[in-house]
Amino acid sequence: MSLAALNTELHQVLADAQLIATRLPGLEALQLWLLDPANLNRAFSSEETRRLLDQPPYWSFCWGSGLALARWVLAHPERVRGKRVLDFGSGSGVVAIACAMAGAQQSIACDIDAPALLASNLNAQLNGVDLVMANDYFAVTGDIDLIMAADVLYDSSNRVFLEHFRQRAAAVILADSRVRDLQHPGYRRLDTLQGQTWPDLGEPLAFREVALYGNAN
Ligand SMILES: C[S@@+](CC[C@H](N)C(=O)[O-])C[C@H]1O[C@@H](n2cnc3c(N)ncnc32)[C@H](O)[C@@H]1O
Repeated sequence: MSLAALNTELHQVLADAQLIATRLPGLEALQLWLLDPANLNRAFSSEETRRLLDQPPYWSFCWGSGLALARWVLAHPERVRGKRVLDFGSGSGVVAIACAMAGAQQSIACDIDAPALLASNLNAQLNGVDLVMANDYFAVTGDIDLIMAADVLYDSSNRVFLEHFRQRAAAVILADSRVRDLQHPGYRRLDTLQGQTWPDLGEPLAFREVALYGNAN
């Protein structure tokens, strides 16, 4: 698995784009291979726009909720230390990597998108940590102590996982910049964090406010 292979994945969407090793604001302990912001400084053709919408390379961005949750993990290592953790919808792997850095016994990056797992793997290498990769949440066996998920509720079909997570793990932590008033009897609001998608997509400022939820059981 190589950076060249990951760039090839990116080129299927944007032919001239490049990944660069990036340190994130307020998360200097961690680096990720992310889309070079210079690649966003031009208009996209209609064909590029179609490809971006059809197969968004989520993994080439660190989403605001992922950034906020990774910072939170490093500020509260006691919440993950010694635990088997699963990061659902891991994208770049930012949260899973933060968990490994914070002393998780095992950190699983789970994503349905194959390039996302490639990105998580390369990003883990970049940071000198080990992750376990999973492309199917339901195929992961064994006990899981903690499930985390950042910016996955944008897809309403993922709401069904809210119940699965509570059944599967003693603790669940969700971070979401799109869903800031989650109405679910099994979850309660823990905090409000700040986070910005990187590279900057020029999203509305309201999306920099990230709701942190925990399971209520
Ligand atoms: C907006 S990105 C967030 C990535 C990362 N958590 C972050 O905050 O930077 C959402 C990710 O969730 C993944 N995803 C969406 N639905 C999923 C599912 N049902 N199972 C696993 N991954 C899923 C997508 O492939 C994508 O990588």
